[in-house]
Amino acid sequence: MSVPQSIGDTAPPPAHVAIIMDGNGRWAKARSLPRIAGHQRGARAVRSAVEAARELGIGYLTLYAFSSENWKRPETEINDLMGLLRLYLQRELADLHRSNVRMRFIGDTSLLPKDIQKLVESATATTSGNTGLNLIVALNYGGRNEILRAAQALAQKARDGEIEPADISVEKFAEQLDTAGIPDPDLMIRTSGEKRLSNFLLWQMAYAELVFLDTLWPDFTKDHLAAAVAEFQGRDRRFGATSA
Ligand code: IPE
Ligand code: IPE
Ligand code: MG
Repeated sequence: MSVPQSIGDTAPPPAHVAIIMDGNGRWAKARSLPRIAGHQRGARAVRSAVEAARELGIGYLTLYAFSSENWKRPETEINDLMGLLRLYLQRELADLHRSNVRMRFIGDTSLLPKDIQKLVESATATTSGNTGLNLIVALNYGGRNEILRAAQALAQKARDGEIEPADISVEKFAEQLDTAGIPDPDLMIRTSGEKRLSNFLLWQMAYAELVFLDTLWPDFTKDHLAAAVAEFQGRDRRFGATSA
């Protein structure tokens, strides 16, 4: 059992929650439906998660929507996923903007269909001045690829004489990542019972608290997010030090 930090004192909610939204295919299979039906219901769960994050006062929400390994899936499923992403970006932008949500994207978006790249740019630009929830969508995202791209950028700067290799610090490295300026996730939630990171935010999750839920992503509700946040608030984060 974890003990509250002090009597009557509730730990603050996590500043940044990252979610691996997994289990759409199994949700569909359990109902003898095509996988796309699971992804469609998954998109509805995204709406609940975003609303819940706003209500809970979470500053940053990062959602893993498409991994750099998801290209291994059949072309028809990739097309279905891109189609849903297109719809989501077209249909939700106005509402998100009205709700003061700032949208950002991480991952190598240059490999996505051109029209989706345009939607990504427009969502980023339209909401760039918003001051409410920061919603970060990981698209064609892979942690190792992100770290590699950062290393390449720093190596180039060193070759151009802009930086001394010995001056590359944790902070300078982090500035080269897609998440530059975004605090590290405090809490990572993965649905569907799988207990792995699947190449998600490898650098940034060094000290994240991990919560694994058996719930399949299409069944994810606001209550699941609230319960995961409560579990987080009961944990003793030591960051390598001794307890207070
Ligand atoms: C998550 O659900 C959605 C994406 C990875 C895009 P899955 O499609 O991985 O569902 P399962 O894991 O097959 O149940
Ligand atoms: C991780 O889920 C990627 C996303 C949720 C977008 P996967 O379903 O692709 O992960 P694995 O293959 O089970 O590790
Ligand atoms: Mg999966």
